[in-house]
Amino acid sequence: MSYYIGQMSGTSLDGIDTVLMHFDKDQMRLIAQHHLDFDPSLKASILALCNGSSDELHRSFVLSNKLSKLYANSIQVLLEQQKIPANDITAIGCHGQTVRHKPPEYTVQLINGALLAENCSIDVVCDFRSRDMAAGGQGAPLVPAFHQALFQQTDMMTDTFVVNIGGMANISRLTVQGDTQGHDTGPGNVLMDAWCQLHLNKSFDENGDWAASGQLNSGLLEQLLSEDFFKLPPPKSTGRELFDLNWLQRQLSNLDAAIPAVDVMTTVTQLTVESIAREIENLNNRGQVIVCGGGALNQYLMTSLTKRLQHFQVLESSELGHDPQNIEAMAFAWLAKQCIERKCANVPQVTGAKGGRILGAIYPG
Ligand SMILES: Nc1ncnc2c1ncn2[C@@H]1O[C@H](COP(=O)(O)OP(=O)(O)O)[C@@H](O)[C@H]1O
Ligand SMILES: [Mg+2]
Repeated sequence: MSYYIGQMSGTSLDGIDTVLMHFDKDQMRLIAQHHLDFDPSLKASILALCNGSSDELHRSFVLSNKLSKLYANSIQVLLEQQKIPANDITAIGCHGQTVRHKPPEYTVQLINGALLAENCSIDVVCDFRSRDMAAGGQGAPLVPAFHQALFQQTDMMTDTFVVNIGGMANISRLTVQGDTQGHDTGPGNVLMDAWCQLHLNKSFDENGDWAASGQLNSGLLEQLLSEDFFKLPPPKSTGRELFDLNWLQRQLSNLDAAIPAVDVMTTVTQLTVESIAREIENLNNRGQVIVCGGGALNQYLMTSLTKRLQHFQVLESSELGHDPQNIEAMAFAWLAKQCIERKCANVPQVTGAKGGRILGAIYPG
């Protein structure tokens, strides 16, 4: 019986999700969660580090410290609310903030594990991706093993797909035989968020209302789908290095005529839907699809995905009792537990690593 904390701050740059989890043998339970929004200036500093720029070594260390203090504050708030002493927590699993993901060379998640351990007096597990990459893998996605632990059922009649729609999107396939597959499918919310910020000055399209009011431009959709990443076979993973506002604006500049901003919004939303649907259909023509990540809260996106995958049963994870915004943070609590117990946590057929590896670096509290 043990408590673990999981923390995720993803490529959407919306903020930090923190969860407190209780594990007892094979049972796991969410006890409490906390979300801290990034303020616009912090978000801008992170975004500025996602591309090469001057003095980035200094700025990345300063930002790691700043983020690690926020990670610690979120944990302290959660533990005070729950009246649980730090001593009772076995470890914190903190993903850190990705600013570069360039497999097979390197991946960078900003975090100062020593500072987080110092401020919380709890063992910290971080740097989850680099060991998988050292073994020849993409270092991503890491959530499929957790999706299996959470969603695999013994009485499954067909495949279950878990779709995580964060800044980027990834799928996990859980088969009846108990195998796990998975890979990134491309952009999740990242292009929608950037377009919404540019034209409406809002960080995201609440419920997908703006996208729902436009018209799909099928020529633009086909052009966006012609990007090489969508044709690559798995294993594959991606990030803001490829899919960002610059990518979208380059694609738009190749068009003969300008398209109304609202129609671009509808079309980039459909790009997320179509790229996810095609990857699922490459693996099976029916099954259950469980959607999690912040994209599950975009009603227009969910309706479009349900319509597109009409031979599948499409559910939002909350229909199975799991708030879609908590699942990735829950995964990092579970990944920390795997590390502390010296269990392999990557899925080699997902990441392309040579074999199973224990993931993470431990900073003793
Ligand atoms: N009510 C909502 N309507 C539409 N989109 C939403 C809503 N709530 C969250 N989102 C989307 O979810 C994103 C955050 O998702 P998240 O799973 O935290 O991604 P990441 O792991 O990349 O941080 C937001 O940037 C936004 O695009
Ligand atoms: Mg997030």
